[in-house]
Amino acid sequence: MSGPEAATATRVRWPVMFVAWLMACVAAASATTAAAQPDKIAQGEKIATGGTPQGAAACVGCHGANGQGNADFPRLAGTGASYLQAQLDAFASGARKNSIMQQFAQKLTPDERSAVAAYYSQLPAPGAPKQTAQPPTPAELGGWLATRGRWSDQLPACAQCHGVDGSGVGAQFPPLAGLSENYIREQLTAWKANNRPPGPLGLMPAVASKLSDADVTAVAQYYAGLLADAPAPSAVPAAAKPAPRP
Ligand code: HEC
Ligand code: HEC
Repeated sequence: MSGPEAATATRVRWPVMFVAWLMACVAAASATTAAAQPDKIAQGEKIATGGTPQGAAACVGCHGANGQGNADFPRLAGTGASYLQAQLDAFASGARKNSIMQQFAQKLTPDERSAVAAYYSQLPAPGAPKQTAQPPTPAELGGWLATRGRWSDQLPACAQCHGVDGSGVGAQFPPLAGLSENYIREQLTAWKANNRPPGPLGLMPAVASKLSDADVTAVAQYYAGLLADAPAPSAVPAAAKPAPRP
């Protein structure tokens, strides 16, 4: 194979191999940090529900009693601990900008940020994926980009990194299911405008730069609508809680 044909094959293949390599790294990192730390989780729960004497407000006031999030505040439940901690560190340093979160993150010590991240990582996801009868068609832009990507632009499917049903993968790839349309749109727009730190390997700025405004709205709507209504929190027995995600 030579000429344009070979070039096309290389173009199509590298993102796939790259994603596979990245997932392997993530899996290796997760395996070494998966040990549960009950004291740390208890400390995190205290911060989440009561805030700190230094003035960090109780997280539950905005992110919901179970970290489930809502139209205005993102979901934290079931999101990888190292992703959450990295976001809190970025708010604290000012690398990620948000007037509300920056002031709270600055009032938490690095240990407190780590503890509250560990606490949220082991809460169950706020709902099960909706059962859809048919896989998306090319006409369903959001679902198509999410599950198939757009190879003509070297845009991998979101699901390759964010998991089937947008449920997140390992420590570094946060869940998208259950985030609000508005929040997802704001994050993608922030990466396009260089207003959010690039994160691991600059993956998201690269993805976002390939999305038109219409693409952004379509994927945001798709992921915002992916969860069936959450069960009543009290209906989730403690024993059914998944193991903490690193
Ligand atoms: C007054 C409301 C409010 C309170 C209280 C609050 N947050 Fe937030 N939080 C927000 C908003 C708004 C955002 C979205 C910021 C953005 O758009 O970048 C956010 C975002 C976050 C994120 C980023 C989520 C992601 O998916 O990237 C984390 C992590 C977070 N908050 C943790 C906490 C923790 C831990 C506490 C408690 C110590 C807390 N928040 C308290 C309003 C709040
Ligand atoms: C090659 C891997 C990869 C692909 C493909 C990918 N993402 Fe991401 N995504 C990431 C990583 C890594 C992060 C965490 C960034 C960070 O740590 O700041 C992320 C974070 C996000 C966030 C922020 C979530 C939050 O809680 O703030 C959104 C929104 C997002 N991605 C949307 C998408 C969409 C939509 C697509 C498909 C069009 C997509 N991503 C494809 C790797 C990927």
